[in-house]
Amino acid sequence: MQKKYSPDDLKVGMYVELPSGWFSHPFLKNNFVISSDKQIEQIVKSGFKEVVIDTSKGTYIFEEMSNKEIAEKKEDNTNVTQPESMEAKEIDSGELREAVHNEKLPPEKRSKAVYNYSLKIVNTIFENPTTDNIVEGKKNIYEVVDVILGNNDTSKYLLNITSHDFYTYTHSVNVGVFAIMLSKELLKGYDPNVMRELGAGFFLHDLGKVDIDPNIIKKPDKLTPQERLIIRSHPQKGYNLLEKTNQLSEECKIIVMQHHERENGKGYPNGLRGNEIHLYARIASIADVLDALTSRRPYKEPYNIFDALRIMKDEMIDHFHKDIFSQFVMLFTKNLKKT
Ligand SMILES: [Fe+2]
Repeated sequence: MQKKYSPDDLKVGMYVELPSGWFSHPFLKNNFVISSDKQIEQIVKSGFKEVVIDTSKGTYIFEEMSNKEIAEKKEDNTNVTQPESMEAKEIDSGELREAVHNEKLPPEKRSKAVYNYSLKIVNTIFENPTTDNIVEGKKNIYEVVDVILGNNDTSKYLLNITSHDFYTYTHSVNVGVFAIMLSKELLKGYDPNVMRELGAGFFLHDLGKVDIDPNIIKKPDKLTPQERLIIRSHPQKGYNLLEKTNQLSEECKIIVMQHHERENGKGYPNGLRGNEIHLYARIASIADVLDALTSRRPYKEPYNIFDALRIMKDEMIDHFHKDIFSQFVMLFTKNLKKT
């Protein structure tokens, strides 16, 4: 049931539908479950007189709800776990693309457009990884990489808006953004064409998950040894998929294949060590772990970025190439708003 609410009366757990387009507020989507008081504050600051609350969704329990409504809410709770990209998908592709290329747009709005556009690209490829979709998606990723390389203000904002809901699509885009930004720092005098290809590899690093049972990927409990083996097959599966479509460079496929290898030889699938791991895969692995730590999972709250970087340094430093990791930390200390 939809009800109008004053922003001052909102509560954490409510499913809110903001009244106007995604440009008029700081959120990535118009409809979402309120997850913190800070979000309520941001909605109040956006100046809306009233917003719509869908009482059948979200996690907030409305006292006046009938048993029937509560039962409906339980069924609808699956909507809460819909990938954010499903929301991004509802935004008109033309409007988004135009915003991505609009140099007059303030960087905070342009970065939102870039982020949502990226979600759409990854969503399309992951839902149907045909050669045609990969060819088209690759071209679109090139556009995103060009904006990240060409516009420092927009890319700085991008680091600030990466979503912390953990879904394969948002994870892919976050890792893509972090890894392209890190590559930009590390590969001074880079060839833009190489960077575009790398961007495609970073965005698609988890493509192999399309061939894995989603129930295993989403399982909140501890994996069985058999399930762990299945999950650990995703780098090889992704590599095979890209090999079959024959559309991406070897370096790009190496990112997909090696992003879970670790400097100490304890990664997978091949237990490579140190220099056996390609530079681009070392970059991807650092970005991948940061996003895993800063994302919300069914079994854990997200760490903030600086706490996550500290954990990586104190507890996992032998997983990463030390100099590349230091550059990564600097990227955030230089660009991230501390809240
Ligand atoms: Fe992965």
